[in-house]
Amino acid sequence: MNPKAHEPDSLPVPGPNALAQSEALAATLRAEIAAAGGWLPFDRYMERALYAPGLGYYSGGSRKFGRLASDGSDFVTAPEMSPLFAATLARALAEALAASGTRALMEFGAGTGKLAAGILLALDALGVALDSYAIVDLSGELRERQRETLEARAPRLASRVTWLDALPDRFEGVVIGNEVLDAMPVRLFARKDAVWHERGVSVDAAGAFAFSDRPAMSALDAHWPEGVLAGIEGSEDYVTETHEAALAFTRTVCTMLARGAAFFIDYGFPRHEFYHPQRAQGTLMCHYRHRAHGDPFVWPGLQDITAHVEFTGIAEAGVEAGADLLGYTSQARFLMNAGITEVLSEIDPRDVERFLPAANAVQKLVAESEMGELFKVIAFSRGIGETLAAFARGDRSHTL
Ligand SMILES: C[S@@+](CC[C@H](N)C(=O)[O-])C[C@H]1O[C@@H](n2cnc3c(N)ncnc32)[C@H](O)[C@@H]1O
Repeated sequence: MNPKAHEPDSLPVPGPNALAQSEALAATLRAEIAAAGGWLPFDRYMERALYAPGLGYYSGGSRKFGRLASDGSDFVTAPEMSPLFAATLARALAEALAASGTRALMEFGAGTGKLAAGILLALDALGVALDSYAIVDLSGELRERQRETLEARAPRLASRVTWLDALPDRFEGVVIGNEVLDAMPVRLFARKDAVWHERGVSVDAAGAFAFSDRPAMSALDAHWPEGVLAGIEGSEDYVTETHEAALAFTRTVCTMLARGAAFFIDYGFPRHEFYHPQRAQGTLMCHYRHRAHGDPFVWPGLQDITAHVEFTGIAEAGVEAGADLLGYTSQARFLMNAGITEVLSEIDPRDVERFLPAANAVQKLVAESEMGELFKVIAFSRGIGETLAAFARGDRSHTL
């Protein structure tokens, strides 16, 4: 995804079936807001908008991932952009599997299945024996799509893949999640006239969703993230997010990880950059047909809603759960260290039709002005003594 703002009123209008689905979700949200006394915390709204069974953005039928608005998709991710992403990531995974003496992978939020297919093919080509590749996704709807991609792209290896409905208590192997943390619900907070409020959702007289800020209740909230908010300098008006769901998820994964490593790739910053006084509008972003804008109330269930990741919190959560921080760096540095230029050099430059798009994709993945710097890779480990090549140069763990 490449966040650039557009006005919601310039968005293409969905078809009647999609609008009806969105209205059905909106009706359940209005009822929930009424039952809660007229106000819902934003993380609950976001959780329903993305994951309400059958109606949410990830649990309903919308196309989501792809390259163009004309194919009905909303955003492109690295594995969708180029198979070189999976092929390069696989080299780091191979090293983590070898260093931990494990033979299993677990991918969270596997999207269309392209990353899984690419990793399976690349590990096979590297001669890495894998016992299993488990996929965990909140969206059951995507399973069929993932199965089809795997059958089409990696038919010989597709039988290794299983889908999990619940996490095991312990896992020995390597975990991967690309753009999963940014898809987890966030709480919103607004500082107005130097007083912090929790920003939630209410319904106005016309039945439309609207932001609504609550100061008094929040002071009584045992989960009020006082430390984080008090640490934000200045007294000017300021809007931001906290990431309780992503932190809980990281703790769960790192507790489950009995031996091996966990890699998460996403856009975001360390805490001092995330809560910088100048980032006064927060990072909440919505995606619809490859347009990015900031209004989460446009067609609930039809558009993606995301927030940038606060990586210091993620690092703390993993370490609290007993894992070691294996590394933290930019996507560009990680992919270069893991050998993306070698992967590209396997394509004959005289084969212009293959080489040019591949070279173009590498540029997008590593260029500072594209995904190279905004996207980061954080990894945790248990039972791995050494540094991996993918973090050997340019590790930024000290900036967290
Ligand atoms: C932005 S998509 C990324 C898909 C894919 N990894 C890619 O890069 O194309 C986020 C995915 O994360 C999944 N997800 C969010 N929270 C999750 C959780 N707690 N467990 C498993 N999957 C989750 C969503 O269902 C969705 O499929």
